[in-house]
Amino acid sequence: MKIFLILTGVFLLIFSCADQGKKTSYEDRTWWKEGVIYQIYPRSFKDTDGDGIGDLKGVIEKLDYIKSLGVSMVWLNPIYSSPNADNGYDISDYRNIMKEFGTMDDFDSLLKGLHERDIKFVMDVVVNHSSDEHEWFKQSRSSRDNPYRDYYHWWPAEKGTPPYRYSLFDPKGDAWKYDSITNAYYLHYFSQKQPDLKWENPRVRQEVYDIMKFWADKGVDGFRLDAFQYAAKDTTFPVLPVGYEKNVIKYYGMGPNLHSYLKEMYEEVFSKYDVFAVSEGAGSTFEDAHSLVDADRNELQMAYHFEGMDVGNSLDRFQLKEFKEVYTKWDSAFAKKGWLSVFLANHDVPRMASKFGNDSPIFREASTKMLNTFILSMRGTPYCYYGDELGMTNIGFDSISQYQDIAAINGYKKVIDTGGDVTQYLASLKFLSRDNGRTPMQWDASEQAGFTTGTPWLPVNDNYKKINVAVENEDPESCLNHFKKMVQLRKDNPVFVYGKYTLLLPEHDQIYAYTRELDGEKMLIMLNFSPEVATVEIPVKKDLEELLMNNYQNVFLKDRVLSLEPYQAFIYKLKN
Ligand code: BGC
Repeated sequence: MKIFLILTGVFLLIFSCADQGKKTSYEDRTWWKEGVIYQIYPRSFKDTDGDGIGDLKGVIEKLDYIKSLGVSMVWLNPIYSSPNADNGYDISDYRNIMKEFGTMDDFDSLLKGLHERDIKFVMDVVVNHSSDEHEWFKQSRSSRDNPYRDYYHWWPAEKGTPPYRYSLFDPKGDAWKYDSITNAYYLHYFSQKQPDLKWENPRVRQEVYDIMKFWADKGVDGFRLDAFQYAAKDTTFPVLPVGYEKNVIKYYGMGPNLHSYLKEMYEEVFSKYDVFAVSEGAGSTFEDAHSLVDADRNELQMAYHFEGMDVGNSLDRFQLKEFKEVYTKWDSAFAKKGWLSVFLANHDVPRMASKFGNDSPIFREASTKMLNTFILSMRGTPYCYYGDELGMTNIGFDSISQYQDIAAINGYKKVIDTGGDVTQYLASLKFLSRDNGRTPMQWDASEQAGFTTGTPWLPVNDNYKKINVAVENEDPESCLNHFKKMVQLRKDNPVFVYGKYTLLLPEHDQIYAYTRELDGEKMLIMLNFSPEVATVEIPVKKDLEELLMNNYQNVFLKDRVLSLEPYQAFIYKLKN
C-alpha cells in the first residue's frame, strides 16, 4: 500500500495569519484554533437531483444539521469543473463549479447560508497540478513554442528517457508520460490526467494568485492548498540517489523555492483579505514543519502531519504505544510555537472507527465515542470527517470491480502487470482503500440512507439502517450526541484547546491517558483503546473532582483503582 503511505506521509494543513512571536499559544487566541472543522466530501454528502452524486444544494439542505454539530468551519473537497479522474482533484476550470455539483449560484447560496450560521468556509485549492483537460495544458501540449508550454514540466525526448520519478496513481508507477504531439514527456506526480504545474514559472504563480483572489472576493474564509509541498521541485530532475525512498518528500518536493512561493502568496493574497490559508506539506522533519507554519514567517500556520495516520497503515493494525509516541512527540514539538491539526480520518484513508477503533457491532459505538473524545480533547484544531460523528465504518469491498478510486484501480493494474500478489493487494485495499471513507452519508433508514433517490455513485454501507443521523439524533447515548457534547465541552473549556498536554502511563498497552492543564485547571483523560477491561491505579496524585465526560454509564473506581470497560473513555476534572 505504498500509495497510501506516501499520500499520508505528505499532508499538511496550514493556515496563514497573524504573528505569534515568542508568546505562548494561549496568549495568541484565535478563532481557528478554538473552532472545530467539519470536512465534507461533497460527492457523498447529499444528492438533491437524483443523479446519485452529492451536490451543493445537498450541502445547503443540510446546513442546519452541520450547525447542530457545533462545528465552526467547513472544508469541502474540490468543487471546480473537473473530468473527475480523481474526483475533483483534477481541475479543468478553476473559476467554475463541477456540473454534477451545481452552479455558481448554488455556491453563492451555500456560502451565504454558512455565513448566516456563523460557519467559515474553507476552499480546497489544487494547484500542484491541473487536469490534462485544462485549457492551459491543452495549449501547452499543442506545440513546443506555445506561450503555455512552460506552464508544465516537459522533458524533450531527444534528451533521452527522463530520470525516474514515481507517480502515485500511474498504472506503471511512472511519473513521466510520453506525448507524441511534441515528442516530449510531461511530469505527473499523480495520475496521467493530472500534469504538474510548473511553479518556477512566475506566470503560473500569478494565475494561481488570481484564482485565489477570485474566490476570496466571493467571500471564502480559507484555502486548503492540496499537495502543496510538491509544488517546488528541483527542475533539473537529477537522478535520484540510492535510498531516496527513505525520504521521498525531500526528493520530490520541499524545493528551496517553496518558502519564497509561500511568502509571495501571502503578499499577493492572504495579506489582502480576511482569510486564512490551508495547505499541505509537513516536510519530513519537525524543522520542515516549523519552517512552513511558524506564524512569525508570514507563510502558513497549521501543521497537518500524517504521522499519526500512518500508524497502522497495514493489515497488522497499530500498536497503541506507537500511536501515543507519535502524538506526544508532535505535541511537544509544537508546544511553544506553531499549531497542529488533530484528526484520524479524511477522504484519503479508511474510516476512523474501522482503523483506530473497532467496527464490530458490540464495540463500534464505544470505540467511536472514545476516538472522538481523543480528537476533541487534544491540543490543536480538531477535524471531523463527515460520518465519523455517527461512527460510520469501512464498506470493505471484495472485488476490484466495486472500486471507483483511481488509486485502487491503477494500483491493481500495476500489481497485475508486475506479477504481484493480487490476493494480498485486495485484502489491503479492503481495509485501507480510500473508497472506504467515501461511501454516502447515512441520513436515515430509508432507501439509499436518504442520500439519493437514484443510484449512488458508490454503494451505501449495509449498516445504514442502524447507523444514521435520524436514529442517532433520537438516542441521547448515540455517537452523534456524544460528538456534540464533546464539541460543546471543548468550547466551554479552553484548557482542551490551549492546555499543556502530559502523557501518562506511556508503556500501558491498553490505556492512553494524559492530562491537559491551563491556569491551574487540570483535566485527566483516560481512553481504553482495547476490547478488554483495563485496570489501573489513578495515574495522577490529585483527586478526581468531577466527571465531565464518559461514554459508559459508570466509572468503576475502588481504592483509587480504575477499571475501564472496553473502549471506555472519560474525562475528569481534577481537584486543585
Ligand atoms: C488529495 C487526494 C488527491 C491528491 C491529488 C491529495 O492531497 O487529498 O485526494 O488524490 O492530492 O490531488
